[in-house]
Amino acid sequence: VSERSAVRAGAEVLVASNRGPVSYAVGEDGALGAKRGGGGLVSGLSAIGPDTNAVWVCAALGDGDREAVRRTGGTLAPEDTGGQRVRMLDIPSQVHADAYNGIANSVLWFVHHMLYQTPLEPVFDAGFRQQWGAYETYNRAFARALADEAAEGAAVLVQDYHLALVPGMLRALRPDVRIAHFSHTPWAPPDYFRMLPDEVARQLLEGMLGADQLGFLTHRWADAFTACCAEVTGGTGGTRIGAYGLGADADFLLERSRRADVEERLATLREQIGTGPDGTARKTIVRVDRTELSKNIVRGLLAYRQLLAEEPSWRERVVHIAFAYPSRQDLAVYREYTAAVGRLSEEINSEYGTDTWRPVVLHVKDDFARSLAAYRLADVALVNPIRDGMNLVAKEIPVVSEQGCALVLSREAGAHEELGGHALTVNPYDVSGTARALHEALSMDAGERGERTARLAAAATALPPAQWFLKQLRALRG
Ligand code: G6P
Repeated sequence: VSERSAVRAGAEVLVASNRGPVSYAVGEDGALGAKRGGGGLVSGLSAIGPDTNAVWVCAALGDGDREAVRRTGGTLAPEDTGGQRVRMLDIPSQVHADAYNGIANSVLWFVHHMLYQTPLEPVFDAGFRQQWGAYETYNRAFARALADEAAEGAAVLVQDYHLALVPGMLRALRPDVRIAHFSHTPWAPPDYFRMLPDEVARQLLEGMLGADQLGFLTHRWADAFTACCAEVTGGTGGTRIGAYGLGADADFLLERSRRADVEERLATLREQIGTGPDGTARKTIVRVDRTELSKNIVRGLLAYRQLLAEEPSWRERVVHIAFAYPSRQDLAVYREYTAAVGRLSEEINSEYGTDTWRPVVLHVKDDFARSLAAYRLADVALVNPIRDGMNLVAKEIPVVSEQGCALVLSREAGAHEELGGHALTVNPYDVSGTARALHEALSMDAGERGERTARLAAAATALPPAQWFLKQLRALRG
């Protein structure tokens, strides 16, 4: 990481998000190594840097990031970040933990994905109020940094539920700038949203309504937000609200998935999958997710087990490739979920596996090249979230799959709004229905599968990330 300053005062375009495009780790030699950040938001925004010369304001997320901030003052040049101008904020770690783990991931994420169920219901007590104070502090740190960095009349694009208060705070500091906020999650309907304490619900909505423009991944989430405002703030004021359906980046995916590291992983995966009794390669059901409660990985495995039980002809002839990459492991409920995924995979393997056939191939170490290799091999893609803002995996697999794949897709994924017509739709809670859809997907003839894949890929790439971003930027600048 170079010491010199790369961010000139007065950027014309700024992006703000909790997780930035890179994270750092200190190597054994003391040097800082950079790694691309993960998750839907980062994948969507990574393409914007070179075209817009945007400054990306984000939080330092670990010791390596904090060390990078210490060495540079927080200003990182494109050559240190893989192409992006970055300003990294070193927010005190307890404030960050309370805001990120406490409020953003344990409360706001659960509300928007409607994940609370007994005994996981929320308790908004003194501890919550203390964490809410940290969430405000954390948002204020972003608002101040943005106010500091922005040129007169700049466009500022704030991302996600971590930073819902930033638009209002920034508006107060810098009335001259244009502000957009984008939600990468679903939005909860009013009855569910109003579980939040009244003053918190109001502050969140008013904070966001401080923006000139609010973006959502689908019309469904935009409408839910508007409905919440109608009940809590009495309307959306002068803020424009729109849906921008983030698409997959076909050029990037196709080029990246043909590189040597992917070929190498492809060979290993092919060995793990093996051949069926008739000597041909086994069919694959592929899923790739963060290990995330909303992704519904456990019910996906239950559906696969039911398929093997009810359709014995698939035994020895199919392999479920499940990549479930650990996420948010500071939270006990995520650690427990990760363990449950591992246990159930083992159960299925010991129940049905043979000397020559491993029914579930579970990998938990995040490896983008291996994910792409699995995309290439997919006969069936399983995307069955309980609720999901978009789900880019549903859009990426049809683009990359080599022989065409059938997509089993939850009607509760944002991607269903665009892809539903060409996928096999499932109710994510209905394990039997999902098992039937898997059977239908595996049985689909090559002609139909090819046609559907072509239509899926076209719909999935309608608004690739760079255009998705520029469309919002143009709308913001009016
Ligand atoms: C969701 C959020 C994104 C985030 C991703 C990963 O998709 O909407 O903002 O990038 O989860 O979550 P994390 O907590 O690891 O940043």
